[in-house]
Amino acid sequence: MKKDLLTIKDLTSKEIFDLFKLAKDMKQKPDAYRQVLKGKVLAMIFEKPSLRTRVTFETGIYQLGGIGIYLAPQDIKLGKRESVEDVARNLSRWVDGIMIRTFAQKILEKMSENASIPVINALSDLYHPCQILADLFTIWERGHDLSKFTLAYVGDGNNIAHSFIWGAVRTGFKLRIATPKGYEPKEEILGEARKEKADIKLYINPKEAVRNANAVYTDVWTSMGQEEEREKRLKVFPPYQVNMELFSFAKKDAYFMHCLPAHRGEEVTNEVIDSSRSIVLDQAENRLHIQKAVMKRLMG
Ligand code: CP
Ligand code: NVA
Repeated sequence: MKKDLLTIKDLTSKEIFDLFKLAKDMKQKPDAYRQVLKGKVLAMIFEKPSLRTRVTFETGIYQLGGIGIYLAPQDIKLGKRESVEDVARNLSRWVDGIMIRTFAQKILEKMSENASIPVINALSDLYHPCQILADLFTIWERGHDLSKFTLAYVGDGNNIAHSFIWGAVRTGFKLRIATPKGYEPKEEILGEARKEKADIKLYINPKEAVRNANAVYTDVWTSMGQEEEREKRLKVFPPYQVNMELFSFAKKDAYFMHCLPAHRGEEVTNEVIDSSRSIVLDQAENRLHIQKAVMKRLMG
C-alpha cells in the first residue's frame, strides 16, 4: 500500500478487498490483534468536530496495543501557530502515524509530503475515505457482490459523494447521484473517474436516481465549514429529503445509509432512519473495524 491514505483513489481494488477481509477477521477475533501495534502512537489532529471518527480511531489504536493523542484545533493551531510542514516534520520524529481531519485537501497533501510516517485522511472538504471504506465494508460483509449492487446517493455533491465516486471506480458498484443543480460533485473528479470506466450517473430528479437501487444514501445538506450557507441550502434541498415516499422507489429490501451525524427532519425523516431497513449504526460500528485494518496495514 502507499504510505498514506488521502483518498480512496490511493488504494487499488485488491487493497480495498484485502482491507475488507482483514477488517472482518479483526471484527470476529479482536483478541488476536491486541498487540499488533504495541507501543505505537497515532497523532490525531482535528480541525473540525467529531464523534465517530475520534472515538473509533482512539478506541481502535488502543485495541491494537497503541495509543492515540487527541490534538484539538486550539492545541496546535495548524498553519497559524506553526506551518503544516513543520508540524509534519516534528510529529515524524515522535509518533508512528498521523490522522487528520481538516479543510482543504492541500493541507493533507502538504502533511503527507513532509511526514516520513503514514498520514490518514479523517475527512477533508473534498474526501472522507475512511467513511466510504466502512460503508462499502458494511455492504460487503452482508454478502453482497458489489459489482451487482446499485447505490443511490441523494443530496449534496460533497466529500462523501466524491469518495463514493472513487469507491465505485475501485469496487465496481453502480453509483446514481441526485443533487440540486449547482450542487453536483466536482467535474474534475467525475471526469477522472469516468476515464476508468465507472458506472456513474447524475440526476436532478431524486426519484430517478433512487429507482431500483439496493441502497439509498444521504448526508447533511450543510457540511462542516459551510455553516454560513445553511439558510440558502435549507431552501434548495427539501425535494432531496429521504422520506418514505422517496425511499419507496428503491428495491423493497433496499438499505438506508447515512454517514451520520444526521439532521433528522432535514435530509432524512425519523421514519426512514429508524426503520428496519436502516443500517446506519452498522456503518458507524464498522468505522472501528475498517480503521483498525487501515492502521495495521499502514503502521504495522
Ligand atoms: N461520520 C463521521 O465521520 O462522524 P463524525 O463527524 O462524528 O466523526
Ligand atoms: N459531509 C459531512 C460529513 C460528516 C461526517 C461534513 O463534511 O460535514
